[in-house]
Amino acid sequence: MRAVEFQEYGGPEVLKVVEAPVPAPGPGQVSVDVAWTGVNFADLKARAEGYRVPELPFVPGLEVSGRVRALGAGVTGPAVGQEVAALVQSGAYADVVVADAATVFPLPDGVDLRTGATLPSVLPTAYALVHTVGRLQPGETVLVQSAAGGVGTAVGQLARAAGASAVYGVVSSAAKAAHARAHGYDEVFTGDFGQAVREATGGRGVDLALDPVGGATLRASLASLARWGRLVSYGNASGEAAWTVGQPELYPLALSVAGFSILNLAQSDPTALRELTDRAFAKALDGTVTLPVTAEFPLEEASEAHRLMDTRTTTGKLLLRVNTPTG
Ligand SMILES: NC(=O)c1ccc[n+]([C@@H]2O[C@H](COP(=O)([O-])OP(=O)(O)OC[C@H]3O[C@@H](n4cnc5c(N)ncnc54)[C@H](OP(=O)(O)O)[C@@H]3O)[C@@H](O)[C@H]2O)c1
Repeated sequence: MRAVEFQEYGGPEVLKVVEAPVPAPGPGQVSVDVAWTGVNFADLKARAEGYRVPELPFVPGLEVSGRVRALGAGVTGPAVGQEVAALVQSGAYADVVVADAATVFPLPDGVDLRTGATLPSVLPTAYALVHTVGRLQPGETVLVQSAAGGVGTAVGQLARAAGASAVYGVVSSAAKAAHARAHGYDEVFTGDFGQAVREATGGRGVDLALDPVGGATLRASLASLARWGRLVSYGNASGEAAWTVGQPELYPLALSVAGFSILNLAQSDPTALRELTDRAFAKALDGTVTLPVTAEFPLEEASEAHRLMDTRTTTGKLLLRVNTPTG
């Protein structure tokens, strides 16, 4: 089978198409004939700097749609041939991927394979940020970094549907601002957002801030919170040093800081991931969230997908066509 791997860290050019043995599912696992693979920012981090890479060579990729190929020992479903979406720790840039059965989700009726590949990472993450960890209440205000990306696009729509009184986004360009405004955001700021948030909220600040950037941006998000405000950290796109926070920042306004990682949840509590994913997928099914695919590439051109995402101009979701009618 084909797989796209890297043997060293670096730019998109380190991604190489190789022939690899078809993996067989072990106990508790399922193998999937991949139709589409979703591209995540974490794949770029893996390739460039070894984020969550245990050893080289490494086949990146966290999410697929496809059909169940084979069941490992002890697995009773989903049935061979069933259309599924799956979240994996790696290996999704390939014709066949092996996933823990607990993180393989039958595609709900009405969700096609192409859409299915956009969902497993982004949608449960966005749902957790807004509801489970962020605990957004109707009437509250939200500030979201990277608002036009995969997670950001879903968060804007979920926050609006949850009854937020205002959803503010931060992006790096005017083109991205237009995308975010079309997906749930009331106002979108580019660049230095601290002052803009204060002005938009009449000096009060926001109730919930969601930050996948880290460093100075996380600090500015924290400084944008109103009394009782919550900050959820879920990434470090900036590559800045790991943040710390303590009493001086939190006590005066009774602030809370939380974190979230869907890959850690998948490893530590697959049952909780399943519950979260069921709730999140329901939001795609009922039309609350749509995740536009803004670019797609054949598997062999995974490096082009990375090149594009590296430009920091992408919005919504990027996909790889693996085994599809058009691929
Ligand atoms: N913790 C979790 O469970 C979890 C799950 C999924 C994703 N994530 C994180 O959520 C974020 C979004 O993921 P995604 O896959 O949907 O990607 P994405 O938002 O489609 O693309 C990444 C975005 O990060 C921003 N960015 C890129 N380089 C940056 C830099 N050097 N400094 C600051 N911002 C930068 C860009 O937005 P702007 O150009 O508009 O700033 C870019 O659009 C990523 O940081 C990812 O690691 C976390």
